[in-house]
Amino acid sequence: MSWFTAFPATSSFMPIQATEIAKEVDLLYAFLLVSSLVSFVILVGGMTWFLIKFKRTSVDQKSAYITHNNFAEFLWSFIPLVIMVGIFYWGMVIFEKLRVPPENISTEIHVTAEQWAWTYRYANGKEFYSSANDPLIVPAGKATKIILTSKDVIHSFFVPAFRVKQDAIPGKYTQVWFEPKEPGNFIVFCTEYCGTKHSGMLITIKALPADEFAAWFHAEKKGAETPADKGKTLFAQKACASCHSLDGSRVVGPSMKGLFGSSRKFTDGSGAKADETYLRESILVSTAKIVEGYPPAMPVFQGQLSDEDVENLIEYIKTIK
Ligand code: CUA
Repeated sequence: MSWFTAFPATSSFMPIQATEIAKEVDLLYAFLLVSSLVSFVILVGGMTWFLIKFKRTSVDQKSAYITHNNFAEFLWSFIPLVIMVGIFYWGMVIFEKLRVPPENISTEIHVTAEQWAWTYRYANGKEFYSSANDPLIVPAGKATKIILTSKDVIHSFFVPAFRVKQDAIPGKYTQVWFEPKEPGNFIVFCTEYCGTKHSGMLITIKALPADEFAAWFHAEKKGAETPADKGKTLFAQKACASCHSLDGSRVVGPSMKGLFGSSRKFTDGSGAKADETYLRESILVSTAKIVEGYPPAMPVFQGQLSDEDVENLIEYIKTIK
C-alpha cells in the first residue's frame, strides 16, 4: 500500500485532492505525521523502558554513572539531521512548484479583496463582485493565475482542495496559480483575520470543462471593453507614448515592446523581472528603480491613478509584444 492509498482523496483526513500538487503536499504532510509518531514512540517508549529497567531498588544499590558516549551522541544528532535536511529539501521543491506559475498559463484573473468581499476582473472585461454569489469561473485541466491585491487590510486567498494559500496585500500584487484536474465547485476561504465578517468572506471557484470555459469567455467578450482596452485609452490620455515607444525604438524612456516578463537592469547594479509588481511600482513611483542607460525623467503618478487604472495599464503593457 502506497502513502497515497493510505489517505484516499475521499477520506475525511484531508480535503479532496483537486490538483496534482495536492497529492504531493499530502504526501509530505503524511510523512511528517508518521515520522513524528515514530520519533515519539522511540523517545517516550525508550524513556519509559529505561525508567523501569534501571530503577534503583534499594538505598544500598550503587548507581552506574555514564558521563557520555560519543558514538551514541553522534548517531542521535546525525540521523535526525539527515532526516531534517531531507524534509527541508522536499518541502522546498513543493514550495517552488506552488509559488512559481508554469509558462503555459491559460487564464489570468485579477482578484481584489476588501472588507468583506472579493472582486474578480477577467481579461475579457467581465467583472464580478462576490456579494452577488457569482462563482470565480476558471477552466479545468488548464493553469490559471490569480493576481491578488487588497483595497484595505490584509486578506488571504485559501483554496483547501487545491492546497494553495496566498495573502492579498494592499498596495502590492501577489500571485497564486492552480490547475484543477476536473470540473467542479471548490470553496475559497479568507484565511487572514480581517474584521467582523472575516468568516463570511467565502466564494466558490467553479471549474468548467475547458471548451465550456472558452465559450463562456468569448461570449462575454463581445462588445465589452477589456482592461487592456481601457489601459490603451489611459496610455493615450496620459501621453505615455511621448516617452515610451510601442515598436522597440528609443525615445526618452524604455520602449514598451516586449517589456512584460523581460529582465531589467538598473543603475544601482541590481535587476528584476518585469512582472506586475515591478510595473506597478514603476508607474506609481518611477524613481524607485531606474533602468540602466535611461534618465530618471518620468513623473510620479502616485495619487493620480486608481488601483484599477494601474491594473488596466499593466494589462495593456502585457499586450505590447
Ligand atoms: Cu478577508 Cu479575512
